[in-house]
Amino acid sequence: MPSLSVSEAVQRRRSVRAFLPTPVASDVIRDVLTEATRAASGGNLQPWVLYVLNGASMQLFRALMDSRLAENPLGEKPEYAVYPPDLKEPYRTRRFEIGEAMYAHLGIPRSDRSARLQWLQNNDRFFGAPAALFCFADRIMGPPQWSDLGMLLATAMLLFQERGIDTCPQEAWSRWPKTVADFVGAPPELMLFCGMAIGHADPAAPANRLRSTRAPAAEVIHFL
Ligand SMILES: Cc1cc2nc3c(=O)[nH]c(=O)nc-3n(C[C@H](O)[C@H](O)[C@H](O)COP(=O)(O)O)c2cc1C
Repeated sequence: MPSLSVSEAVQRRRSVRAFLPTPVASDVIRDVLTEATRAASGGNLQPWVLYVLNGASMQLFRALMDSRLAENPLGEKPEYAVYPPDLKEPYRTRRFEIGEAMYAHLGIPRSDRSARLQWLQNNDRFFGAPAALFCFADRIMGPPQWSDLGMLLATAMLLFQERGIDTCPQEAWSRWPKTVADFVGAPPELMLFCGMAIGHADPAAPANRLRSTRAPAAEVIHFL
């Protein structure tokens, strides 16, 4: 395994939205996720429950999603709102800017709603990734435990990056809670938080040329 400092992994990681078909071995995914469970969690609850799709299970899931998308292009009733209803500043602008930047990279004009919908549905196909995971937590968990899920996922993304494997975390799966829970066999007490595409970036894909920006450090970090 090539050695990569934590800083290098942080710098290199980005959300990849077009993958090559190159497979990722299940053993590698298992090792990464096992290591990632070293992530901190409040009270050491370790509130995460993960289901991995790879190989045959991914093929089956893809076929299922093709038929679901044909029946219902917008998805099911989401179990949670990904964003607050009236996003205020500065969050609204940040969200708007990343969306506009992505559509500009893809050459999709704002007015082309059908092209936008088609692009959004790439989420529902894991952007062509050969492997993926779904992250669930027990419904009794609240915001502190949901933040623990983020810590696990961030740790996993960096560990994947260390192995040259790319990822995209996907709250878009909140639009398919029933389909996903039924497919993976999650018990009813579990709630789907998100999915994550896992694979190797297609370097030629315009979507992967996007480099997201960040607010200046002084805007969000305050030394007293
Ligand atoms: C929890 C979580 C859910 C996300 N859901 C989606 C998603 O559904 N679809 C998508 O294209 N990107 C999704 N993203 C990626 C963000 O858009 C991305 O992290 C952000 O724009 C910063 O870009 P970067 O990851 O390339 O640094 C998600 C990120 C996180 C942390």
